[in-house]
Amino acid sequence: MPALDGLKVVRSPIHGYGVITLRRFAAGDIIVYGDGVVYSEDDDFDDTYALLLHIPDEDSGEPQLLLDLTDQTRWINHACDPNTEVDVSWDPDTRIATAWWVALRDIEVGEELTYDYAFSAPLAEPCACGSDSCRGIIVDLDEIDQVTGPNRDLIRPRFRRRLRRRAG
Ligand SMILES: C[S@@+](CC[C@H](N)C(=O)[O-])C[C@H]1O[C@@H](n2cnc3c(N)ncnc32)[C@H](O)[C@@H]1O
Ligand SMILES: [Zn+2]
Repeated sequence: MPALDGLKVVRSPIHGYGVITLRRFAAGDIIVYGDGVVYSEDDDFDDTYALLLHIPDEDSGEPQLLLDLTDQTRWINHACDPNTEVDVSWDPDTRIATAWWVALRDIEVGEELTYDYAFSAPLAEPCACGSDSCRGIIVDLDEIDQVTGPNRDLIRPRFRRRLRRRAG
């Protein structure tokens, strides 16, 4: 597989492998388009490297769709204060999915790329992003009050205050 232009997979201080930049990107730049294979949530596959692609209407009875990333983008780690965001598009007629990462700020050579995985509460995992605004767990901020079990104890103090405020 050819390396994606301007990116390199390395061992990451955040987790396992990560992706760093080999050149500078400016805020708003599209950094990379990711390739992948579309699966349904009903399929038996390892979704560790998958992006949520399409959430159907609740009453449609259709399954959620996921894009299993097959290139270097599969190694981009999560951060609670990320330097990119990922956008996805899904065309139900052609069944073609596209995912692309956009720089949220200027990114210098050698910086690790990150985006906010925004996991739903049941999928939350401990976070090692190390940012000042780390939530303690990888979770969608809007679902942080729904986290249960040991992950709830990992939520950082400032977000605990948010839990208490929400509890009334
Ligand atoms: C798409 S993979 C990212 C590549 C991963 N670093 C690897 O080497 O396989 C997603 C998984 O990486 C881990 N990961 C990513 N970001 C993380 C973070 N900020 N803190 C802890 N683990 C993280 C989690 O286990 C997550 O389910
Ligand atoms: Zn974090």
